[in-house]
Amino acid sequence: MGATILFLTVVFGVSMVYSYSSAPSMHVDIMLSGLNRYSEHYPVPRLPYKYDDFEPYFDAKTMEAHHKQVAEQRASQLNRVLKEWRASGENATLAKLPLFGMIQNINKVPAKWREDLRNSIGGYLNHIFFFATLSPNPKGEERNVSDVMKSLFMRSFVNQTNFEKMFNKTSLELFSNGYVWLVRVPKKRYLTVYTSHTEINPVSAGMQPILGIDLWEHSYWTKYGNNREEYIRSWWKLVDYDKVEKVLNWWWSFDPYDPKHHEWHYDDDL
Ligand SMILES: [Fe+2]
Repeated sequence: MGATILFLTVVFGVSMVYSYSSAPSMHVDIMLSGLNRYSEHYPVPRLPYKYDDFEPYFDAKTMEAHHKQVAEQRASQLNRVLKEWRASGENATLAKLPLFGMIQNINKVPAKWREDLRNSIGGYLNHIFFFATLSPNPKGEERNVSDVMKSLFMRSFVNQTNFEKMFNKTSLELFSNGYVWLVRVPKKRYLTVYTSHTEINPVSAGMQPILGIDLWEHSYWTKYGNNREEYIRSWWKLVDYDKVEKVLNWWWSFDPYDPKHHEWHYDDDL
């Protein structure tokens, strides 16, 4: 698992050596640990930073409420629904899959728990991915963007600037609550921008989120009111592309479209 894997691709006439390690950084690992496995109980991960570390862009009060109340509520709902469903014994094979397996097969979840589960799995995962790719940046310095990420932006959006413009436009246009994501499209092996409404997670549509902005008002109302544009500008100051790349590597390390991870797939027997 510790081996470095080289992936060679040619797009737009440019050769790119894609390199990744299966050992993500500790911070990303803390946030994503266990998500790919079955669990009796899914906890809200401890944040690898303090609530006031994101000042002056995110205020400590909002961060604390977002983590301790909103994310916790989603996790509590998830664990409650899973417990009830599993105790029922209905569709027990599906009930034993990891969360990613369940949401990709949500229409086979018994109707009694389906909508609660769709929302709570999404809400749980969405907040983890949202928090995983941010890091403190009190002086608002430019963040490092690796050659790998630059190549992926070129491959997928022509360049990073185009990607960020598209992301901003999509974020401003999203009506009401939801998220905008940078996702990996597994079978196509490129990145794209994806919108999810309410608490739907991109994995439901077979996408793998590697960066996402939470556009629910609980993310920004206290500091920015209805000025979503200012909130988006501030969020960019906290986006840590090194972490984004590590999340990308994390997905690579157990790609559900790799046949050896077939347990994430559903077949008609479920
Ligand atoms: Fe949120």
